[in-house]
Amino acid sequence: MLLNTSLRKADLASVTTPLLLVAVPKGGLPASLVPLDRAVGGSLARLYAAADFTGKKDQVAALYPDGPIARLLLVGTGDASTASARTIRRAASVAGKRARLAGVTDAMFHLTTEARGAVPEADAVQATAEGLLFGAWHFDALKLPPEESRAALAGVEILAQGAAAEAGHRLGAAIGAAQALTRGLQVLPSNTCTPSFLAAQAEEMAARHTFGITVLDRAAIEREGMGALLAVGKGSAEDPRFIALEYKGAAGAPIVLVGKGVTFDTGGISIKPAERMEDMKFDMSGAAAVLGAFEALGRLRPKAHVIGLIPSAENMLSGTAYKPGDVVRAMSGKHIEVINTDAEGRLLLADALHYARRYDPACVLDIATLTGAVVSALGYTAAAVIGADEALVDEVRRAGDRSGERVWPLPLWDEFREHIKSDIADVKNSGGRPAGTITAAWFLREFAEGYPWAHLDIAGTAYTQSEDAGAVKGPTGMGVRLFTEFVLARQG
Ligand code: BES
Ligand code: MN
Ligand code: ZN
Repeated sequence: MLLNTSLRKADLASVTTPLLLVAVPKGGLPASLVPLDRAVGGSLARLYAAADFTGKKDQVAALYPDGPIARLLLVGTGDASTASARTIRRAASVAGKRARLAGVTDAMFHLTTEARGAVPEADAVQATAEGLLFGAWHFDALKLPPEESRAALAGVEILAQGAAAEAGHRLGAAIGAAQALTRGLQVLPSNTCTPSFLAAQAEEMAARHTFGITVLDRAAIEREGMGALLAVGKGSAEDPRFIALEYKGAAGAPIVLVGKGVTFDTGGISIKPAERMEDMKFDMSGAAAVLGAFEALGRLRPKAHVIGLIPSAENMLSGTAYKPGDVVRAMSGKHIEVINTDAEGRLLLADALHYARRYDPACVLDIATLTGAVVSALGYTAAAVIGADEALVDEVRRAGDRSGERVWPLPLWDEFREHIKSDIADVKNSGGRPAGTITAAWFLREFAEGYPWAHLDIAGTAYTQSEDAGAVKGPTGMGVRLFTEFVLARQG
């Protein structure tokens, strides 16, 4: 069941709730909490006096006052001087996770003015809703219910007074729900989440939000001449799909979002090691991010024109699989020498990027768990953004900053093109280890012709391998917030 957030105008000191979550900055008892402290019999003042809680980032303290607030949980946001939508979103996700684990059906969240700092109220409420939904998200559909099951968290009321709160909440709730949809797809195992399953999800969403949709099956993919997508899917019993979604909230040249939809990446004949191969069910995270962005568009209905393209296949090894040394003809007509069948994402993206030309796009953004090398460059903290159009790269970077999904540029100088020169074809699909993220982007550039383009490599940020205070381990929904922010900002 999806958590529902709502707004409530109420006096903090007189609420009745099984759980009150309060975000506070580093320091002593915030002045704005003096009335609440009085309402809970001075227990907040005693907590601070004991120096058990200082409000540093991610710190929490639980109190069990006698009265209408059954539980009171303080969440630290860190230094007030650096308060931002990011610190607020983080505190809200820590709160959301704790609220889910508390075994209550309802809770309230309050952001102190001290923790809000100079962040406008609309932005603060948006970040709060996003954070609560993010932190409370978890996946239990494939587990039997626990013997002693606790109540599921159904609603969190965000206490906010200002007039701008409504607009912020509308955005945050839509984006939070969209990100939950993305994470729910990412986490699904590949025996459920196949290319045809992704297509069915897109069709269901298109019907729900009245999007235009085209799904190409194997025969149609062949007719379109998408030889690179076909090659990747050839070794699998699961047929590939090509999905095109259209949201038309305005006339004019569309923004095209392209997401890598490899539902499982064994590496193919260039097989991957067994260790952590199970993570390769997440290799459709780019596709899931595009679907999530469309979920947000469907809920928010901005004045924008957006196309979503998802090339989807399963990268398997079998007697019908493509092989190292094979040369395939991409839809653009270029020939690709396959050096490594594990560099499959760039192949199916090549055909999608070429397909995008028919829309005469304002710009094209692709998103993909494309290279392990991006982890060497940026760790698990930021995705890479790469493109030849500096203004577009910067626009993406800024959308990433504002949305809290950070991306950072890597260069695309001509010298890097050398690595993907083929002896016998137009281009080869692997440039080896050096600058692996950049050479992969150079390969995509060969097919992203005729429009401004930027590429996002989310291999380090699409999922996590450990739990933290504000999230379960696993899927992050990376890209949904950034894409939504990008589209809304372009809408003006
Ligand atoms: N899906 C992988 C990239 C990946 C690696 C995602 C680790 C998440 C975690 C991609 O298809 C791949 O295998 N890339 C290769 C490219 C190489 C063969 C040129 C890689 O990064 O090793
Ligand atoms: Mn691969
Ligand atoms: Zn892959």
